[in-house]
Parts: sequence; C-alpha cells; structure tokens
Amino acid sequence: MKGVILAGGTGSRLHPLTRITNKHLLPIYDRPMINWCIEALVHAEVTEIMLVTGGTHAGEFLRLLGNGYEFGIDRLSYGYQEKPGGIAEALGLAARFVDGDPVLVMLADNIVEQSIKPMVDAFRAEARGARILLTPVEEDEHLRHLGVPSFDEGRITGIVEKPEQPPSKFGVTGIYCYDADVFDVIPSLVPSGRGELEITDVNNHYINEGSMAYDVLEGFWGDAGESIDAYYTVNDFVRAHGANKG
Ligand code: DAU
Repeated sequence: MKGVILAGGTGSRLHPLTRITNKHLLPIYDRPMINWCIEALVHAEVTEIMLVTGGTHAGEFLRLLGNGYEFGIDRLSYGYQEKPGGIAEALGLAARFVDGDPVLVMLADNIVEQSIKPMVDAFRAEARGARILLTPVEEDEHLRHLGVPSFDEGRITGIVEKPEQPPSKFGVTGIYCYDADVFDVIPSLVPSGRGELEITDVNNHYINEGSMAYDVLEGFWGDAGESIDAYYTVNDFVRAHGANKG
C-alpha cells in the first residue's frame, strides 16, 4: 500500500500566516503540521510515500523531511502541483508513483487523536473500491465547511461538499483509501463551482458504483486549516493530549 500526502493549496483561510510559509509547515504544538500526518501514515505501516505540494515554499519540505528515513519512511517522493486545482487534481499527480497499488491519501492539515491503522488494515483486507473515515460533528455551522454524507439503512448514498443544509451529523475527514481505479476516475472529473477537481466527486463515483465502505473515527479529529480558530483548537488539543495514539 502506498501513501500520498496532499500539502498544496493556498492556505488562504490562514492569511496572513500563509503568505510567508506553506500552511503545512506552521507549528502544531512542538513540530510542523506535516510531521503529524507523516506519523499517522507510518503508524499505519504505510512507508512508501509521495508528498504533493506547491507554491513558493515547496523547497522547505525537502529541508525538513529530506529522504524521510528519520521519520520511519522507506521511500519518499515529492510532487509539485503548479496551481491549486483541487485535492483530486493533486492526487492525480501521484499516479505514476502509486503504479497500480492501493493507496492511502491524507490531507496534511488533518490531525487525529487515534491511530488510523484499523481503517487502513480494513482496506488492506479487501484492497478494492474505496474506504473513507467519518467523524461525528454536532454543529451545522461546522458541517457547512466539510463534505457531509447522507445514509440509507447504514449505507452512504452520497456526499455533499459544504452543504447549506447538512444531510447528517457526520463530516468526511481528509483520510481516504482507494484502489488503483482512482487514477481512471480523476481524468473524468469536471471542475466544480470553485474551479477545483473535488475529492467528493471521486468519493461519489465509488458510492454510485456500490464500492464505498466507511469507518467512524473515535476520538478527536481536526482540520487545522479550516480557520484560525480551528488551527488553535487543534494546537491546544495536541499539546494537551497528543495525536496518533494506539
Ligand atoms: O478536512 C476535511 C475536508 O477536506 C473534507 O470534509 C472535504 O470534503 C474536502 O473537500 C476538504 O475540504 P477543505 O475545504 O478543507 O479542503 P482544502 O481546500 O482546505 O484542502 C485541504 C488540503 O488539501 C490542503 O491542506 C492541501 C490539499 N490541497 C488542496 C487543494 C485545493 C492540495 O494539495 N491541492 C489543492 O489544490
């Protein structure tokens, strides 16, 4: 199983901090944000990883991570996204690296309290279709910033990106497992209203095909890039409780 970490985008919700560095290099407690994501993949025994980033600070990732051995990575590749054309576009850049294997994808601004290994192991056992990780979210205002699934008798029937009227009390985290077909799906996508290739459209493809599974995450989940308040909530949580446990 290969891993792809997505660390491009503009980080505009954290301006002006992200005018002077890449969002995923900002600190979360005692280390850069990206390090927590790498730790999550390595805990799940995913040690062949491609990091996709963009913008003017891409070189700093190389300085921070080098060849990755220090972090338990066996093979670390880098990809460069010319423009922030969306999460699915960034993933598409990893096609040759993934080379037909199943793939774990993680957005580098996502932080989890508990290890993602159980979800990744469940996908390894099947290694076909897709598997996503959901988190319970109470507040509609928060759900309006996320992908939100709808259900019928426990099966996901669709995901709406940033819905005005959230169809459930679950958010889709930025942690996804796909079979190699994902790289055939991405070229068929059309840009959304915000001009991006959406990962939600990839997930809806698998849902429509009947090959989407899901798990519900236990413990804290945070998207440190959602807003400056979310950034500090994640910082405070990690400082007090740590991350990637178990
Ligand atoms: O965090 C979970 C949410 O992430 C999901 O609930 C949503 O369904 C999903 O679309 C995504 O929403 P965001 O609005 O948070 O996505 P954002 O544009 O902030 O991008 C998240 C990460 O993806 C970002 O930290 C880096 C990477 N990215 C993003 C874009 C737009 C790229 O690598 N390239 C890109 O072009």
